[in-house]
Amino acid sequence: MDLSAFPYLQGNYAPIDEERDFDESQLRVEGEIPDQLVGAYMRDGANVAFQPNYYVYPLDGDGMVHAVYFNNGHVHYKNRWVETSHLKTERKFGRTLYGSVGKLLEVPQEVIDAGGEPNPVRNTANTNVLYHGGKLVAMWEGGFPYLLNNDLSTVGLYDYEGALQPGDALTAHPKVCPDTGQLISCTQRWDSPNYWVQIFDAHAKHLKTIPVSFERKGIIHDLQITENYVVIFYAPAFHSLERAMKGEDPFMWEPELGTKIIVIPRDGNSDNMVFETDAFFSWHFCNGFERDGKIIIDYVWINSIPFTQAQGTGVEKQPRRMHRMTLDPSTMSVNDEEFSDVFCEFSRVDERRMGKDYRYGFAASSNRDWGDAHGYNCTGRFDFKTGETTLWEYGPEANAGEPVYVPNPESELEEDGWVMCFVYTPDEGAFLSIINAGDFASGPVAKVHIPGRVPNGFHANWMNGLTL
Ligand SMILES: [Fe+2]
Repeated sequence: MDLSAFPYLQGNYAPIDEERDFDESQLRVEGEIPDQLVGAYMRDGANVAFQPNYYVYPLDGDGMVHAVYFNNGHVHYKNRWVETSHLKTERKFGRTLYGSVGKLLEVPQEVIDAGGEPNPVRNTANTNVLYHGGKLVAMWEGGFPYLLNNDLSTVGLYDYEGALQPGDALTAHPKVCPDTGQLISCTQRWDSPNYWVQIFDAHAKHLKTIPVSFERKGIIHDLQITENYVVIFYAPAFHSLERAMKGEDPFMWEPELGTKIIVIPRDGNSDNMVFETDAFFSWHFCNGFERDGKIIIDYVWINSIPFTQAQGTGVEKQPRRMHRMTLDPSTMSVNDEEFSDVFCEFSRVDERRMGKDYRYGFAASSNRDWGDAHGYNCTGRFDFKTGETTLWEYGPEANAGEPVYVPNPESELEEDGWVMCFVYTPDEGAFLSIINAGDFASGPVAKVHIPGRVPNGFHANWMNGLTL
């Protein structure tokens, strides 16, 4: 493959071409693996299998899941492509057949005639991987998720036993309520501007749909839950499938419209609240909760839409900051404050405190210019009690991925868990970093070194109790 035309396929963004299995004899463990851990750290990401025609980070590329399994102090690593119908069709023809979300291509007639995947919009299954209700799924936000087996082999498209209708696009950012075990998710559709909150029970059975109407289809990537609400940001960032089909830039940013914050009652029984403020964009929430009648939302703020169809324009270098927003339903006021001036993204929290008051957020962070490596070289801890931000730096040229909080099964304290992420540095290669959440300044208590590379990717989760 010649990837030189694609800024986001350089360095550790470049794909790997192998599916691998490494047992303990092939992995080098540095430090002490916490022996209480039984489960798996899994991370999804884009890993093109064939020379792409177009590539717009962070949207394109075939999904590949990387997993480190833990069982009583023992570890095992595995990586597998998600065997989507698009990837299988391309394998059959030995070349790229589909375009980018930013530039769709007509599917060749010979592909359709041969029974290949006819949908020009590639199901990338590259954005997130989640274990809920006994189902392991690889997700993106433009279609159905793919169901996986524990060993990362692909079962196939998953419609939640008929709950998803043809054309429904399930978010890659559902939240699990720690009190009910419910999965709070949503669907959008390519053919409608509207939005539907979808709630599943602890066993992944569909419970309820709450529709939300919009006049235009916005780019709504994440959602946040609080005790009583689902909160989404409706930024003036729009995508047009028609423009994409015509080869025009499908992404639109209209800041004069401002950003709306939609607060949707989780019971679906009362009206939504719509707060309005100056335009901003956000990929990711950190957490949200209610206190004294107000709704507090922590999230990564971005000043405008962070991508275009144009390759390497640098717009993605714009600042990203942890913010705390306070919504007051009694006055409909929005108070938004920068929490930290650290460049960060991929914000996470102890999931036992999802939707609840909490102390620590974690995010991939950078203590240098964004630079040519386009990387986060630190893991950051954001202490909402003291206001402090603590960074652990892996090296100036490191790339550190989304940090996932893994609870200590023997403790309820946030400080007693671990924070895991994949890291790549030119000196050390690839490793899974494990930092004690309560002792961030000491850095990793263990590193699981993985031969070869683990390319930069998107979202990760801890799959509690999942083993090979
Ligand atoms: Fe995301």
